[in-house]
Amino acid sequence: MKIELTINGVRRTGDVEPRKTLVDTLREDFLLTGTHAGCEHGVCGACTVLLNGEPVRSCLMFAAQADGYEITTIEGVAPAPGEMSVVQDAFCETHGLQCGFCTPGMILSAHALLERTQSPSHEDILEAISGNICRCTGYGQIVEAIEFAADRLRKSNAPRPAAAVEGTAK
Ligand code: FES
Ligand code: FES
Repeated sequence: MKIELTINGVRRTGDVEPRKTLVDTLREDFLLTGTHAGCEHGVCGACTVLLNGEPVRSCLMFAAQADGYEITTIEGVAPAPGEMSVVQDAFCETHGLQCGFCTPGMILSAHALLERTQSPSHEDILEAISGNICRCTGYGQIVEAIEFAADRLRKSNAPRPAAAVEGTAK
């Protein structure tokens, strides 16, 4: 069936099997392989993308269900090619990733949180990433990265995450 999505600010069309998942469609049809497929049954959060700004597990959705929606993948969070978002930069600085498998989902969950609130509490951060499992168990540095990014965004008065997404065309 034909679907039309806005992915990272760009209108995209596809022709997919009705039962094809969104994660497989993003990876195979649109070649956006930054969205990872882990458990593929809704547990790990590796497949997290933003659907109209809200984190969703793309392994639990059919691509057909996303027809007409705006999707942000990890490829869409940087302000320009070769640059990193404030959140991505913070993950690098605090060593908030080890193997990196969970990282795209973690970063998208963090972007959604920082879009909702400029000053998240420690508990807010834990709640925001509670659906994302890190098999390397680097949670301490991940939480630190999100706190660091929030602090930087507040101090620099930089555009908050969604603004960067809107300006990205891929
Ligand atoms: S791959 Fe979707 S939740 Fe694990
Ligand atoms: S950094 Fe390895 S799964 Fe999180």
